[in-house]
Amino acid sequence: MTSIISNPCRLPGIFSLVLLGFATAFGTLRAEDRPLYQDASQPMEKRVEDLLGRMTLEEKISQVHGDSKFTTPAIPRLGIPVRWLTDGPQGVREDVGPYNWRSAGHTDDYATYMPSLCALGSTWNLDLATAYGNVLGQETRKRGKDIILGPIADIVRTPLCGRVYEYFGEDPFLNARMSVNYIRGVQTNDVSACVKHFAGNNQELGRAVIDMDMDARTLREIYLPPFEAAVKEAGVWTVMGAYTKFRGEHCAYSDYLINKILKGEFGFQGLVMSDWGGTYSTREAVLGGLDLEMGTLIPGTEKELPCDDYYLARPFLEGIRKGEYPVSLLDDKVRRGLRVMFATHAFDADMRKPGSLNTPAHQATAQRIAEESMVLLKNAGDALPLNVSNLTSLAVIGDNAVRRHATGLFGAGVKTMHEITPLEGIVQRAGDKVNITYSAGFSKAGATNLAERARLIEHAVAAAKQADVAVIIAGLNHSRYLDDEGWDRKDLRLPYGQDELIQQVVKANPRTIVVLIAGPAIEMDPWLAQLPAVLQAWYPGMEGGTAIARVLFGDVDPSGKLTCTYPKQLMDSPAHALGTYPGTNGTLFYKEGLLVGYRWFDAKDIEPEFPFGFGLSYTTFEYSNLKIVPGQDTNGPVVTAEFDIANTGQRAGAEVAQLYVHQEKPALSRPPKELKGFKKISLKPGEKKTVSIPLDQRAFAYYDPAKTGWVSEAGDFKILVGSSSRDIRLQDTFHLAQTTVEK
Ligand code: GLC
Repeated sequence: MTSIISNPCRLPGIFSLVLLGFATAFGTLRAEDRPLYQDASQPMEKRVEDLLGRMTLEEKISQVHGDSKFTTPAIPRLGIPVRWLTDGPQGVREDVGPYNWRSAGHTDDYATYMPSLCALGSTWNLDLATAYGNVLGQETRKRGKDIILGPIADIVRTPLCGRVYEYFGEDPFLNARMSVNYIRGVQTNDVSACVKHFAGNNQELGRAVIDMDMDARTLREIYLPPFEAAVKEAGVWTVMGAYTKFRGEHCAYSDYLINKILKGEFGFQGLVMSDWGGTYSTREAVLGGLDLEMGTLIPGTEKELPCDDYYLARPFLEGIRKGEYPVSLLDDKVRRGLRVMFATHAFDADMRKPGSLNTPAHQATAQRIAEESMVLLKNAGDALPLNVSNLTSLAVIGDNAVRRHATGLFGAGVKTMHEITPLEGIVQRAGDKVNITYSAGFSKAGATNLAERARLIEHAVAAAKQADVAVIIAGLNHSRYLDDEGWDRKDLRLPYGQDELIQQVVKANPRTIVVLIAGPAIEMDPWLAQLPAVLQAWYPGMEGGTAIARVLFGDVDPSGKLTCTYPKQLMDSPAHALGTYPGTNGTLFYKEGLLVGYRWFDAKDIEPEFPFGFGLSYTTFEYSNLKIVPGQDTNGPVVTAEFDIANTGQRAGAEVAQLYVHQEKPALSRPPKELKGFKKISLKPGEKKTVSIPLDQRAFAYYDPAKTGWVSEAGDFKILVGSSSRDIRLQDTFHLAQTTVEK
């Protein structure tokens, strides 16, 4: 097989020079002679139509498929620039290829390595979601890219999903709110976000072949809302279709999902792209609404197909010439791509925001998000925060104390200028008065080499014995099956003998704290009861070690809350309790329906290890005085829940107040409660504030397939306000006077 070293899509050199000559001449035309599409004062649609009308058939075809891993070609004659796409959801990926995934070996492609999206979700702080997107947008712009392939809005359906660390969580309302603000933050920088993977990439195992079988309510109420909000509220410019199929159609060109729902009902005017290698048919892609084919491979290999052979390249061109497809279908695809180009000022470079890269401000944002994301799962006897003044020695244990996680993450990796490890952060924060010893405790080799495992545990136990406190930095590490794209986890256990390590260390030193570097969730029953404190730190990004230390030493109050249920055991989770994972003969039955995540645990009355929305603080909060205030005008909220929160502890802290809705007697079955609002609030010791959470019509509605609309039924609804889904502090009943149906 010849290797693909030159790209047949690129015009031969001399031809480009001639065209360039034309373009240069063009560029010097007087303003009044300039074509309309080059006039930034003209409305976008007029500019789009003017440019589209000037393009030849071949030029249009060149814009609906990639001509390298992450580009579409320029058309110098018309001044159409190369369009650059880039990963990923937690930072601008290094340059690769151009025709493979290998690093391009550049030195100008460092970027800010942000905390993972499960960390951002766990902040429950929408201002930080905007700030996160803004960092990515600025860096995408500065790196000369036009579309960044994030956020991921997919729902966590199983905690085994290999990319769960890249997902916001299990709840559609939270995922929607986070996605909207992230996208707005990105797109204010004249680059396009790309919400993915529409409408469901809920596991990695078999993702390229799985056919999702779910009922209409589950699709509408659980898996679509984050994408609907991304389109209707954030105005996202591009959407990436999932590899999976829905009712037999590939999501990236499903007539039902793409043409009828996304572009029809949701009114999406931007561009739908495939996932890389997710296109398998010209006819289906042409008719099913795919606008940009990326990363198609030679079937059965990992090699890029020559881009003229892409499904939407020569075969599509020939199909049009034979009259199999109307040009109007091609025009609509190109039109959508041109909208994105005009929206990101691709033709008005002088108007484009400059962007910025690797700035201290970006790094400070990364650190703040990491600090606010961490979830204090246990803190018996106020083991935390640590106090330097009464510490003389500290044993820091664990391979994850020194491991860096930024690169090698396929679509989520970032080449970062630095990544502060937990050990570096702790050493720096503790200062020179505390004697710190480090012991690996576990290693990748320990997965199979039991002698190595025993030796490392023995060494760690000895270190723990000598120290006032032992801090074990445990978790996963993006190795295969351990939070890695393409590979689901095999269980929720800690690998490499960490359970035994933790048990042995806590026996040697009861003042043992576990810090988890991992995506959600981990089974902790072998050691949770024995130790005083557990902090979930996610993948905290390039400033993660500093953030972990600042939380451990109390400079920052832990204020993160879980966005995924932590089951006591995997089989308690719906996808596993019902045996639907990983699917049967290529079909994945979403048998749990609406009961994903905490909805299942509530409906089946199963006690989780830690519930959705859970997270402790170093202080305490008191809720009081709930009032349900009816809306005053038809355009405003239906009601607003108002209540007070007071900080009743001795330290400043932040609380995430959550609002759940329960319908008393629905005509159709509903989960026991559904998250419909939240607010994060910072309070000094003794301070009390009033929180208001508005509820719109949709907050009361369920989707009724018979009415093909959202029904909010007249009747009684419980408004539940709490510190977690299982810690409801206030509740009241609201009577919705009349039924409405939103089509
Ligand atoms: C991957 C991922 C997607 C990523 C793309 C390009 O397979 O599913 O999220 O953006 O390919 O790397």
